[in-house]
Amino acid sequence: MAYLNRNPSNAAVPVRIGLIGSGWMGAFHAESIARRIPGAVLAAIADPNLESAEALAGTLGTAKVTGDAADILADPEIDAVVIASPARFHSALIGQAAAAGKHVFCEKPAGLGLEELDAALAAVDDAGVHFQIGFNRRYAADFQAAKKDLAAGIAGEPQLLRSLTRDPGTGSIGHAARIPAWTIFLETLIHDFDTLNWFNEGAEPVEVYAAADALVEPGLRDQGFLDTAVVTIRYSNGAIAVAEANFSALYGYDVRGEVFGSRGMVQAGRSTETAARRFTAEGTSADTPRLNVELFRQAYTDELVDFADEVRARRERTAPAPKSFSLTPGADDARRALAMALACIESVQQGTPVAVNAVPVR
Ligand SMILES: NC(=O)c1ccc[n+]([C@@H]2O[C@H](COP(=O)([O-])OP(=O)(O)OC[C@H]3O[C@@H](n4cnc5c(N)ncnc54)[C@H](O)[C@@H]3O)[C@@H](O)[C@H]2O)c1
Repeated sequence: MAYLNRNPSNAAVPVRIGLIGSGWMGAFHAESIARRIPGAVLAAIADPNLESAEALAGTLGTAKVTGDAADILADPEIDAVVIASPARFHSALIGQAAAAGKHVFCEKPAGLGLEELDAALAAVDDAGVHFQIGFNRRYAADFQAAKKDLAAGIAGEPQLLRSLTRDPGTGSIGHAARIPAWTIFLETLIHDFDTLNWFNEGAEPVEVYAAADALVEPGLRDQGFLDTAVVTIRYSNGAIAVAEANFSALYGYDVRGEVFGSRGMVQAGRSTETAARRFTAEGTSADTPRLNVELFRQAYTDELVDFADEVRARRERTAPAPKSFSLTPGADDARRALAMALACIESVQQGTPVAVNAVPVR
């Protein structure tokens, strides 16, 4: 991808990154930073589960391991943090990291409430540090190709937009007891909201109307665990969007986006691992991805390449590599998508459309 600075000439002074949270996503990011990001070093790992942090550090040769993120924030040798703890800690960690002068990459969602997020983003503004949110779909090659077409006006004025996430599954949700009730909006559809906002850039989400249920695991309905949802979104430019999610696609991980407009249509996303197809007497088939890190491996890597480039540019007061269209998801993107997720929860509770509080108060 030509617009990402994969071989920066000034990579001699590495960007030193501390990881906060060494679980599923954190471990993948740690490996990217240690092995796949030019000019970046994984300098430290913090996780209250020390065993997990130590195991990861052992694999990657990371020098510093701690049970407390504060140790990373107090370390003057560390330029930036990647936050991959559970979401309920995100806003506080963003605020603390910014106050300590660290550039911040935070996994989505950036918080669970607008008040806590606004306080964290105010700290980011005050400190003048770079902030990026983990909306990785923007870095997938096909989503970028679609965005480029949209920026060139190929679809004309957007009228209908669509984004969907079908997480791979087995037809049941065995670990659901450990998953917070509104995950489908706060952690899953939040990606779709960002895709729609990015594809419909310049317009604000005005209102959402959400329907959600426990169709994969009806037994969990009483605990409030919803695994299937559809959201209608109205935008300030008149466009109408639909976002949908389900937690158990038996055929694998399926993520797609689409804009239909006055001049045509642009689509992104695929549900197959590669473009290869098998044609036999039984019919046609293709391999499907079972994991997010399979479908979005490149995107998860490139979002951190972009982050390291931005941090390096700020640190050295040089311009980051030029991009031909808006790419890096930042504070306003994080807030806008969270506002939509929170409005969806209210919409399900009330059974009515709900206005989106999309305008930041910072
Ligand atoms: N972008 C994506 O596609 C994607 C995919 C999966 C997860 N995520 C996000 O990544 C985040 C983590 O998810 P996960 O699946 O890796 O969860 P996980 O439970 O596997 O890992 C979370 C880790 O954070 C640690 N932790 C808990 N409190 C902490 C604290 N205060 N400071 C530091 N570490 C702490 C836990 O011990 C655990 O090791 C979530 O916000 C999730 O939404 C994003």
